[in-house]
Amino acid sequence: MKIITKISESRDEINVFRCVGKRIGFVPTMGYLHEGHLSLVKKCREENDIVVVSIFVNPTQFGAGEDFERYPKDLKKDAALLQGAGVDFLFTPSVEEMYPEGFSTAISVSGISDGLCGSSRPGHFDGVALVVTKLLNIIMPHKAYFGMKDYQQLQVIKRFVADLNMNTKIIGMPIIRETDGLALSSRNIYLNADERKSALCLSRSFAFVYEALEGGETEVSEVKTIVENFIKDHPHTRIDYVQFVDPETLKPVKDLTKDFLLALAVYVGKARLIDNNIFKVM
Ligand code: PAF
Repeated sequence: MKIITKISESRDEINVFRCVGKRIGFVPTMGYLHEGHLSLVKKCREENDIVVVSIFVNPTQFGAGEDFERYPKDLKKDAALLQGAGVDFLFTPSVEEMYPEGFSTAISVSGISDGLCGSSRPGHFDGVALVVTKLLNIIMPHKAYFGMKDYQQLQVIKRFVADLNMNTKIIGMPIIRETDGLALSSRNIYLNADERKSALCLSRSFAFVYEALEGGETEVSEVKTIVENFIKDHPHTRIDYVQFVDPETLKPVKDLTKDFLLALAVYVGKARLIDNNIFKVM
């Protein structure tokens, strides 16, 4: 695996393979890798000739007071994991390389980025759209892989890639969970032992929704109250949002008679955790 820090070098190296018809797959990450990231890398390895992974903690997607400064990092461990997973290129640019002096461009995706994390973290998806556009322009992959834990992020990326006619197929991959149900996240490192126990309330709340649906409940407000009360019963938790939305538009659903996405954002101690599940309704 070759580690590259410069944009020009990554272009030169990867172009060699593109020119001879090799398929380029790409997994963008912010590092501190876990099995969720590695599941993306595995799929990317299966479906492409050349696998490129980026590690870049992107400052433009963090708001004031968020965890940009303390975002966990372990480049040595990440590089060893990626090497073991058969990655060809690891692209780890500096902030100055990605955003040199004079950088002045913004990208904003309206509609799909308005609710959920878009409301709680103003500007977050502008930052994601900007960095993913830059990374896709630099790597020019045939396919790029993203986890469905960041469900809204995936929809935002699909939207601007289509809108801007970018020549990359965006692949969404299932959430990877610990055996007890906690969705894998680099931010789980912020949880102490008690908070780790409380964090299970996100994924465990899904069972109450299935139970309510089986009982014939179709009122959003009823099921929302059940989920909120369950989460609030757990120490160290503070709900950011509990939203029942259309899986395509991410607009709130009026009732639970059609397929819907339950999207959760909950602070557990210092960690802001997100999780989601699509409920199929007959
Ligand atoms: O999901 C992430 O890790 C980041 O938001 C991404 C897509 C790498 C952009 O910085």
